[in-house]
Amino acid sequence: MSQSNQELSFPPSTDKIEPERRTWLIACGGAGAVAAAATAVPLLTSMAPSEKARSAGAPVEVDISDIPPGGVKTVEWRGKPVWVVRRTPEMLASLEKIEGQLADPKSERTALPVPEYAKNRHRSIKPEILVTVGICTHLGCSPVNKFETGNQPGLDANWQGGYFCPCHGSTFDHAGRVYANKPAPDNLEVPRHMYLSDTKIVIGKDEKGET
Ligand code: FES
Repeated sequence: MSQSNQELSFPPSTDKIEPERRTWLIACGGAGAVAAAATAVPLLTSMAPSEKARSAGAPVEVDISDIPPGGVKTVEWRGKPVWVVRRTPEMLASLEKIEGQLADPKSERTALPVPEYAKNRHRSIKPEILVTVGICTHLGCSPVNKFETGNQPGLDANWQGGYFCPCHGSTFDHAGRVYANKPAPDNLEVPRHMYLSDTKIVIGKDEKGET
């Protein structure tokens, strides 16, 4: 059974944070800071209400109606941050331009199998809505949003926008596809998901069942 998500409340400060939890906190902080600074659109962060349900890996329902164009909502699923991004027409247009620079533009590698409905250029069911796990496929750092195009620290003048992993410099396009000759071997994971309505999706299951 799915769990609806609610507003995120951060846990009290503690000296002991489990590694999985640390990854989640890094993801929230990194993505949030960059989204606020670089795109000036709100980062909407939610998480499922039940710790028990999360640890059991229950699918997570997400209301996508409040994600603005160019905005990101981060939810927790199975201890991992999952980004739900509403891409703009400009973001989608960039996907074709940089395809020759990618390691696996058609999502053919099998280390992180992509659901059939995401084996397309935009790696999603509806072109504008991307659902992807915000964990770098190299060593598990959390990439940050770099939605602005052009020259900036770590990126050159041809940068078309996407995600940048600050740990070792891997870069991903607006569909989470990794650029070639980077440390990360694979595209960002696309989890199973499906639409419950025009404004609600569920992550962790699709018509074929739960992941
Ligand atoms: S962990 Fe992302 S590039 Fe190494």
